[in-house]
Amino acid sequence: MSVNMKSSAIAHSNIAIVKYWGRSPSHDPKMNIPLNDTVSMTKYGLMKDTRLQAHTTVHLSDDYSKDIAILGGETLTGKGMERILNVIEPLRERANIDCRFKMMSENDFPTQAGMASSAAGFAALAIAAVDALNINLSKEEISTYARLGSGSAARSIHGGFVFWNQGDSHETSYAKQICGPDEFDMGAVIAIVSEEKKSITSDIGHESARTSPFNKVRIKKSQEQAWEARKAVLDNDFSKVGKIAEENCKYMHFIMMTSDPPLFYWNPDTLRVIKTIQRTRKEEGLECYFTVDAGPNVHSLCRSEDIYELQKLMEKTEGVKKTISVKPGDDSCTTEKHLF
Ligand code: DP6
Repeated sequence: MSVNMKSSAIAHSNIAIVKYWGRSPSHDPKMNIPLNDTVSMTKYGLMKDTRLQAHTTVHLSDDYSKDIAILGGETLTGKGMERILNVIEPLRERANIDCRFKMMSENDFPTQAGMASSAAGFAALAIAAVDALNINLSKEEISTYARLGSGSAARSIHGGFVFWNQGDSHETSYAKQICGPDEFDMGAVIAIVSEEKKSITSDIGHESARTSPFNKVRIKKSQEQAWEARKAVLDNDFSKVGKIAEENCKYMHFIMMTSDPPLFYWNPDTLRVIKTIQRTRKEEGLECYFTVDAGPNVHSLCRSEDIYELQKLMEKTEGVKKTISVKPGDDSCTTEKHLF
C-alpha cells in the first residue's frame, strides 16, 4: 500500500516560570529529561502578525527519497535535522511506517533569541506528525515526543499554565495543564533588546549546568518552586507566581554565569529593563515581575489590566527595540491549512 499522509499543526511558544536548565545525568541526554519539575505559561501574541506561534506541515510519502526539513525557508542539516529526526523516528517506528517525510515550518517571531522558538516548533511538529501517522495519543503522550526535539516543547502542547513533570523515563517525563488560559489572570510584555541569534545554544548550556558549584542548590529550590508556583496559579495568587518567577530566573542565570565555560546571556540593556521593572513595581505601584530565558530579552509578567501601561513604560526604556505583549495561549492543535 502506498503512503501519502499529510497534516499541519499550530503551536505557541511558552515562557518558563520555573525553568528547565540541565539534563538528568542518569538518562541519555537526547531524552531531555530535566533536573526538576518546571512550570510555564503558553503565550499568545496580542498583535495580529506576531502570535508567537509555529505553523508546521508534515508530509509522509513514498515519493520522497530522503527526509527533508525546511525551517523558515532554510533546509536543515546537521544538528538541526538531528533534532527533527529525534521526534519523527520514534513516531515512525511506533506507527510501523517506513517512508520518508518532508517537513516545513514557519515561525511568526525571531528564532533562537531566547524566545523559545523551538518550543513552539517542536510542539507543532509532534502534533502534526502524530496526526499524519494516525497514532492515537493523549496530549500528555504527545508532549513526551515534543520533548525529544526540545525540552521546553513538551509544555507548548498545552495552553494556559503548564506543569512539566520531570519523570524518570520517556513515558513519565510529560507536561500536563495546571489550568486553562482564562483561569489565571496573567499576561506579559516582552521587551526585545536584541533579535540576534544567540551565540551559545541552550543545548550547550544544559550540558555545562552541572559544572556550576551551585547547581545542586538550584535544583532543590526549583523543585520546591515548581510546586509552589503550581499552587499559586491554582490559588489565583499573581504576586506569588511573579515572585517565584523572578527568583527562579535569577537562580538559572546565576548557574549560567558560574558554569565552566561561563554563559552570560544578559547584555546592559537586559539589566536596564530589569531595573525599570523593579522601579515600576516599587514607585509606580504597578505590580510586575521579570523573567529571562536563554537570551537577553526580558519578559515582564503582569495582570492583564496592566499590560497596556507596562508596554508604554517598556517602550520608553533605553535599549528596548520593540515590545510584544502576550496573554495566555490556547492548546496547540491541528489545522487544515498546509504550508505546501
Ligand atoms: C532557558 O532546550 O527547551 O528556556 O534551545 O529552545 O530548544 P531550546 O530550549 P530548551 O531549553 C529551554 C531553556 C529555558 C528555560 C525553560 O524554557 O524552561
